Amino acid sequence: MGVKFIKISVVYFVIGVCLGMYMSMTEHFNLTPVHVHINLLGWTAMTLAGLIYVAFPEAAETKLAKVHFWLHNISLPVMMVGLAFFVTGTKNAASAIAVGGTLMVLGIVLFAYNVLVNIKGS
Ligand code: HEM
Ligand code: HEM
Repeated sequence: MGVKFIKISVVYFVIGVCLGMYMSMTEHFNLTPVHVHINLLGWTAMTLAGLIYVAFPEAAETKLAKVHFWLHNISLPVMMVGLAFFVTGTKNAASAIAVGGTLMVLGIVLFAYNVLVNIKGS
């Protein structure tokens, strides 16, 4: 689970910085929130979750970790594609952001619960 998170996170890192470069070159700063959340939820948050699961296999081997993995990885593309359409003028993409954002928050709450309950101090 940890390694999968880390491998997916570097793909988001590449997409995030490419989008940052595109925004700089074209001065299309309306895409900033997409860039920000691809980098922060895709790269940094996923890398950190992955490293935590690698360091603490007792948390990685739970059903909670699996559900967190799928919620994070399904919700992020839904939220990011919705947000990209929304900031470029398709206002009815708001429902995709709402669904993606809600699933993302749910996944993160499960992750937090998993860490709090299943990681024991040494
Ligand atoms: C080559 C890499 C990158 C480029 C070219 C780039 C480019 C940009 C650009 C053009 C903006 C918009 C600035 C504005 O609206 O005035 C921006 C904003 C932002 N970027 Fe990046 N970025 C890069 C990497 C990253 C990474 C790796 C992260 C986070 C892990 C990140 C986080 C942010 C954040 C949080 C903002 C919003 C800042 C604010 O609202 O003031 N960026 N970036
Ligand atoms: C489900 C999770 C999240 C949701 C629904 C969410 C939602 C939002 C919204 C609605 C905005 C305002 C966008 C705008 O005014 O253009 C925003 C901005 C921002 N969020 Fe999030 N966010 C989430 C997670 C995160 C996380 C985990 C981070 C950092 C690790 C983060 C960092 C930021 C930053 C830096 C900005 C300012 C971006 C800018 O200057 O345009 N967000 N977020």
